[in-house]
Amino acid sequence: MNANTNSASPSAPPGSGDDQLTDPVDWEARYRAGDTPWDEGYAAPALTELLARHPIHGEVLVPGSGPGHDVRALASQSGIRAKVIGIDLSPAAVELARSYPNAGGEHYECSDLFDLPASCTARFDWVVEHTCFCAIPPSARSRYVTAIADVLKPGGHYFAIFYMNPATPEGPPHGVASEEISNLFDPNFDLLQEWRPVEAFEGRMGRELCQLRRKR
Ligand SMILES: C[S@@+](CC[C@H](N)C(=O)[O-])C[C@H]1O[C@@H](n2cnc3c(N)ncnc32)[C@H](O)[C@@H]1O
Repeated sequence: MNANTNSASPSAPPGSGDDQLTDPVDWEARYRAGDTPWDEGYAAPALTELLARHPIHGEVLVPGSGPGHDVRALASQSGIRAKVIGIDLSPAAVELARSYPNAGGEHYECSDLFDLPASCTARFDWVVEHTCFCAIPPSARSRYVTAIADVLKPGGHYFAIFYMNPATPEGPPHGVASEEISNLFDPNFDLLQEWRPVEAFEGRMGRELCQLRRKR
């Protein structure tokens, strides 16, 4: 993977097609300013819960990995061989993630999920989603699903912690209805399990939905 600039450039002309992906958030500026309220300093509780009962192995992609807490939780599973890659379009986020001690061979790359190189196609056994889907503009969601389907091997797994109804009316984070998730994912992914996590970060309790899906 190469360092990519954000193809969701705010300067994309309306109607060019790129406006679908236009992200009004300057993620790099937020990291540089330390304006990162999503960084709780540890992995998503719902991911920790899953890992306690279900190992995640093989090549694992974490899109929008930010400070990398989830990446390190995946890389440090005891007795499990997982090659975990966190990608984020913000160089400052990648720099921050790399500043933590290595947990188990993980690595981080500065890449845009919507502009991944061909080497990522059908490469991953797992994609682990936490607060990337809710961070992107809702208009880019079908592109998101295409990107996830592209990087997964046939039969590859997708674990997502969806942030369904954030307390803040204006996103990001952008909420989502279960019906929309089904409409987006059901055509290419079987739903294996769905549950409400027992633990969540403060303010997110009862607002998250976990899904385990498999790409057909
Ligand atoms: C709300 S933050 C969450 C970060 C991390 N998942 C966490 O929970 O700490 C969303 C992250 O997604 C990244 N991001 C947004 N759009 C992206 C894209 N198209 N490709 C890769 N990363 C993206 C942002 O830079 C940011 O780090």
